[in-house]
Amino acid sequence: MKKEFTYQHLKKIFYEYNLSKGEIQDLWDIIRPIYKHTEFQKRLNPPYYHHEKTTLGEHIIRDAIITYKICIKKKMTDDIKKRAVLIAMFHDLYTKPWMQKNPKKYLQNFHAFTHPIEAIINAITWFPDFFVEVEDAEIIIDGVLHHMFPCPLRSPSLIPLEINNKKEFNNLPYIYKHLILKSLRPSFLRSMTWRESIFIEGRIVSRADKISAMYKDLSFLDGLSFCKNVALAVLKKG
Ligand SMILES: [Fe+2]
Ligand SMILES: [Fe+2]
Repeated sequence: MKKEFTYQHLKKIFYEYNLSKGEIQDLWDIIRPIYKHTEFQKRLNPPYYHHEKTTLGEHIIRDAIITYKICIKKKMTDDIKKRAVLIAMFHDLYTKPWMQKNPKKYLQNFHAFTHPIEAIINAITWFPDFFVEVEDAEIIIDGVLHHMFPCPLRSPSLIPLEINNKKEFNNLPYIYKHLILKSLRPSFLRSMTWRESIFIEGRIVSRADKISAMYKDLSFLDGLSFCKNVALAVLKKG
């Protein structure tokens, strides 16, 4: 079983990605309020696994770091960098550990197609301060919802939407419901939407998510520095 996640683990991850002290401080200033929230802390420990060794919270932190590094490399503005890192911190905040399956679900409601919807509802519910400005809210919402591209995403349709936080969705102020539904407009098979985020911030996070998945898949080759270097080269290229 994995040991409890501590601040020492967090520091170790920061250094793994060769962040300078100034970059760590800059990134920490953005992610701190989210990291310290009880819902995020829950996801740093079992049973919230992303894959067998990494917890969901650790995966999210790695995505946020990779997102940050891409933004620095591409010389993005501070506003874009902040919104992109926030999208990364929110992108997988779904409600229940994904291994807890519900066999009765419609195919369209499987975890891969619905978890971004649960994540954005939870993010707005738990972190409303980051959604006060409507322009920012629209970019963050679209980025979280479409982070799985090219995997399609569930759209509202005649098939009931089976998510674990429907009550929280109903409790959201109208503007957020409107922005979520606008971003989920169907474009594929009537019950699905299939596109990248229309905003650069969301597209950066989607890319960071794939890089982090690839890095994980190569981790079993830890002893072979060549493979690890390939992954790091792709990351640098970002
Ligand atoms: Fe995801
Ligand atoms: Fe992810």
